[in-house]
Amino acid sequence: MEQVLIKRSDSYSVGFDEIDNQHIHLVDLINQFYNAFCEGKANEFLDTVYKEIILYTDYHFASEEKYMKQYNYPDLEAHKVLHTGFIDKINDMLSEYKSGKLTISYELMNFLRDWLLNHINGTDMDYAKYFREQNIMKLD
Ligand SMILES: [Fe+2]
Ligand SMILES: [Fe+2]
Repeated sequence: MEQVLIKRSDSYSVGFDEIDNQHIHLVDLINQFYNAFCEGKANEFLDTVYKEIILYTDYHFASEEKYMKQYNYPDLEAHKVLHTGFIDKINDMLSEYKSGKLTISYELMNFLRDWLLNHINGTDMDYAKYFREQNIMKLD
């Protein structure tokens, strides 16, 4: 049975399609990894799904930062610090899983879910609100 860590019904829309689609893809990847974890196969997916989570997160953060810069978002630097912190953390976690120092657990799964949902609904929502206040209705 397919296990779902982050449900479609969990709200995480910032109201800009390109960003929402990236968030959905990220949620799908995290759910894939969670599914592997529930089947006891998380270790086998470290070099594929988990690495893809890191790569795609990096790509997604770069897109957000590009738009924040383009539209002169005043809190860009603070937002970037949070992005960098998360990327460092999930990279460190990968090395720790691989060296056996850290076990992939429900706690870690919940960390991924909570970080992502809290970031989207807090920090990301702030730039989305700013864009709307600037009458930016579509990102391009
Ligand atoms: Fe985001
Ligand atoms: Fe963000």
